[in-house]
Amino acid sequence: MNAQQLMDTAKALVADDKGLLAMDESTPTCNKRFARLGIPQTEEARRAYRELIVTTPGLGESISGVILYDETIRQKKEDGTPFLKVITDAGIIPGIKVDTGAKALAGHHGEKVTEGLDGLRGRLAEYSQMGARFAKWRAVIAVGDGIPSRGCIEANAHALARYAALCQEAGVVPVVEPEVLMDGEHTLERCREVTEQVLRVVFNQLYTQRVMLEGMILKPNMVLPGLTCAQHEDVEEVAIGEQQYQVRLTCRQQEDVNEVADATVRCLLQAVPAAVPGIAFLSGGQPNELASARLNAMNVRFASRLPWALAFSFARAIQQPALEIWQGQQANVSSAQKALCHRARCNRAARRGEYTPAMEVEVGPEQHHAAQASH
Ligand code: G3H
Repeated sequence: MNAQQLMDTAKALVADDKGLLAMDESTPTCNKRFARLGIPQTEEARRAYRELIVTTPGLGESISGVILYDETIRQKKEDGTPFLKVITDAGIIPGIKVDTGAKALAGHHGEKVTEGLDGLRGRLAEYSQMGARFAKWRAVIAVGDGIPSRGCIEANAHALARYAALCQEAGVVPVVEPEVLMDGEHTLERCREVTEQVLRVVFNQLYTQRVMLEGMILKPNMVLPGLTCAQHEDVEEVAIGEQQYQVRLTCRQQEDVNEVADATVRCLLQAVPAAVPGIAFLSGGQPNELASARLNAMNVRFASRLPWALAFSFARAIQQPALEIWQGQQANVSSAQKALCHRARCNRAARRGEYTPAMEVEVGPEQHHAAQASH
């Protein structure tokens, strides 16, 4: 392991207000997204879509690194140029997803553990030789009645730490992704509590497995209420002088941008050591524009006081409008690339605290329509 090289790569991934583009959907996930839009679910369609992404003019102005999938890292442009060459020529660092997916965790109904440790040392050596300089492993933590269990959190945290240690041994920066899912009725407060608990266990395991924190990136969820969290009323007792009063508080379903920013940063401050150079959020199915606005609010309110950079590592919140415009048609490639570049730019602006909703109307009507449709 070359510690300096790991630290340099980790820093480069969050340098210059840029962020990561996750384009590492597994074949089944990519096919599902294509199917929804009537795009053929073939290897050639997946290759053409990924060619669209990596050849987007100006992508490297906002994107520091792209996360590829095993199929994609081996693919080429139609003219025979390997994607890896196109990516590095654009000044973008190539990365690779190395987990093999989340599977049912035995004895834990409704919970999953991410697999992929078997043979990982060999796969990392191959990817690193091909040119990948960082990797990703995603653990998923569901929130619900009686879950997450300690068993699920510990199993996932242990796997994340073993993966991270193997990456560093291979000279590859691990992106450590423990995702607390948005599905469910839980409140923002419950998400904060679970996210903090998960992060504490993950960092404990990273320490136990001797992972160098300066040579990794954390990829967490933002702290958000569950997608089906109902609007509800709470009654709080408030004392004024000698008198006790009951105050009715109405909690909105969609907490505002500043509440999300505050809850997320407060949670991270409790659990993420200062040695970690960067935190790159996943988007998790949030509407594109809200993901940008929330990241922006965090940077406006806290950036100058935080030990780590707050960046992005979005898949859907960058790609979705482009995919909807493309529809599998060559004639739509250029408009789709503009939409992709636009979302990447919005998120770079959010890192600087300079994103405004007005940026959204700077795009053509086609792109704006797709951005709206994906909400
Ligand atoms: O593992 C998940 C992706 O890297 C992030 O995807 O931004 O659509 O949640 P997302």
